Amino acid sequence: MVDAQQPVLELTGIHKQFPGVKALNEAGLRLFPGEVHTLMGQNGAGKSTLIKVLTGVYRPDGGSMVLNGRAIRPRSTQDAQDLGISTVYQEVNLCPNLSVAENIFIGRYPRRFGMVDWRAMRRQAAELLRRLQIGVDVGKPLGEYPLAIQQMVAIARALNTDARVLILDEPTSSLDEAEVQTLFGVLRRLREEGMAILFVTHFLDQTYAISDRITVMRNGEREGEYFCADLSRLALVNKMIGAAEDAEDAGAQAAAGRQAQRGDVFLRARGIARKGVLAPVDLELHRGELLGLAGLLGSGRTETARLLFGADRADGGSIAVEGRQVGLSTPRDAIAQGIGFCSEDRKHEGAILPLSVRENLILALQARVGLWRAIPLKRQQQLANDYVGWLGIKTASIETPIGSLSGGNQQKVLLARWLATEPKLMILDEPTRGIDVRAKQEIMDYVSKLCRKGMSILFISSELPEVLRVSDRMVVMRDRKACGEYRRGELDETSVLRAIAGETAGEGA
Ligand SMILES: Nc1ncnc2c1ncn2[C@@H]1O[C@H](COP(=O)(O)OP(=O)(O)OP(=O)(O)O)[C@@H](O)[C@H]1O
Ligand SMILES: [Mg+2]
Repeated sequence: MVDAQQPVLELTGIHKQFPGVKALNEAGLRLFPGEVHTLMGQNGAGKSTLIKVLTGVYRPDGGSMVLNGRAIRPRSTQDAQDLGISTVYQEVNLCPNLSVAENIFIGRYPRRFGMVDWRAMRRQAAELLRRLQIGVDVGKPLGEYPLAIQQMVAIARALNTDARVLILDEPTSSLDEAEVQTLFGVLRRLREEGMAILFVTHFLDQTYAISDRITVMRNGEREGEYFCADLSRLALVNKMIGAAEDAEDAGAQAAAGRQAQRGDVFLRARGIARKGVLAPVDLELHRGELLGLAGLLGSGRTETARLLFGADRADGGSIAVEGRQVGLSTPRDAIAQGIGFCSEDRKHEGAILPLSVRENLILALQARVGLWRAIPLKRQQQLANDYVGWLGIKTASIETPIGSLSGGNQQKVLLARWLATEPKLMILDEPTRGIDVRAKQEIMDYVSKLCRKGMSILFISSELPEVLRVSDRMVVMRDRKACGEYRRGELDETSVLRAIAGETAGEGA
C-alpha cells in the first residue's frame, strides 16, 4: 500500500502572508505515488494558495518543499511543470480557435530541421489522448468540444511532460454527472500508472468516490490527514468547520415556516418556448415561494431561467408579472420588473477583479437606480458591510480587490450584488457552486428568510438534497420539458430521482 513508500512530494511548515491576511500558517501536505488525494476545507481555508505556492505562482514566506527527496523552490508554473508538477485550473486556459493538438503543444511544438513538425505533433497528441481513452479528432478546433473534453485536453497537456504530480483545483464544478465520471476514469488510469494526484473539491460525494486520502485544511493550517475509508462524512465536515454539524434541519424548518405565507401569484409564464432549446413550459411563482427546478444539466433548467430573465428571447408564449402582460426581451426589462438573476458563471457574470468588494457589490443596484444617480459612498459602505456580515464573506476589508478573495467568497459577493437590488423575484442558477458545505446552508437559510418576507425564488441546483431541503414546490425537467411537479410533503428523493431519470409516474402531480 501507499504507506510503505516514500512520499513523492512533501510540504512542511508553509507560511504565506498577504496584506492583512495570513493565508497559510504551518500548512503542509504529503503526496504518495499512485494515490488520489483530496484537499478539503472551507472557503478561504488556503487550498488554492497552497497550490499556488507549490506551483510557483506565489513565493512562500517560509517552509520547505521536497520532491523525490530534493528540496525545490519553483519560481513559476513553467518551473514547476519542468520539475514534474502539472496543474489544471478550474477555468480552462486554452485557445478555443486552435486545434486540439496545437493546444496540447502550445509553447513547445515539436520541431524538425528548425520547423514545427505538425505531423509529429498530431501523432503525439493522438497518442496522449488514447492513453486517457478520450476519442477526439486532434485536428479539430478545441472550441467545438464540450467543456469536459476541453478539461481532458488540459490534462493531456499537463501530462505531456514527465509529470509525476498532477494537481486539479475544483476541476468538476462545471461538469455534469457523466462528464465527472469520464474525468474520474482518466484519474483512475493515471493513478494506476503511479501518478500522485491532488484534487480540490467541495463535493463530498466526489471526494468519497475517488480519494484514497484526504487532507483537511482549516484557517491556513493542516488540520489532519486521513485515509478516506476511515473518515465518515460527518467527521470530515466536523474537521473542516471545527464544530458539530447540526444545521441539517435548519433549511427544512425555514421552508415549513414559510409555507403558510405563500401569497398571490407574482409571475405566470404560459407556454414559453425556444426552438431547439425548450419545449413550451408553464410556470407559476407565488410571492414568498421558493420553487426548485431540478433536472440534469441540459434538461432545460437554465434555458427556462434565461427566458424569464430576458437573457434569451422566447419565440412563443407569454409572461405576466403581477397580473400584467410583460415583454421580457432583455435583462433590462426583467430588472425593471424586479427580477434578479445570479448564475454560477463567475467569469461571465463578471466579477470585475481589480475592483473592490464594495464596488463589485453595488454594480447591479447602481444599474437599477440609474447610472446618473450615484449611490452615496456612505450608503455603499453600509451595504457592503451588511452583506459581508450577512453572507459571511471572508475578506480583509470591503475595499479589498475582489480578485484577492478565495473563489467561494467571490461567488458570495456576486450573490450579494443581486440581493442588494432587493428583487421581487430572484433566480438562482447554481448560486452555491464553489461554496463550502457549511456556507451553502447558511446562504440558503438567509435566502429562505428573504423568501419569508415575500421574495419569490426560483432555485436551480444539481445537488438534489439541497433543492429538496429548501423548496416549497419543485418542478422536474427532463429533455427540455417540464415533466413533473411536487409539493412539499410529496417530495422524496427517490421519486424525484426517478422523475429526473425518466422512469416515473410523477407526471402532472
Ligand atoms: N492574491 C491574494 N491577495 C490577498 N489575499 C489573498 C490572495 N489570495 C488569497 N488570499 C486570501 O487568502 C485566504 C485563502 O484563500 P484561498 O484562495 O487559498 O482559499 P481556498 O481554500 O482556495 O477557498 P475556496 O474554497 O473559496 O476556493 C483568503 O482569506 C483569501 O482572501
Ligand atoms: Mg480556491
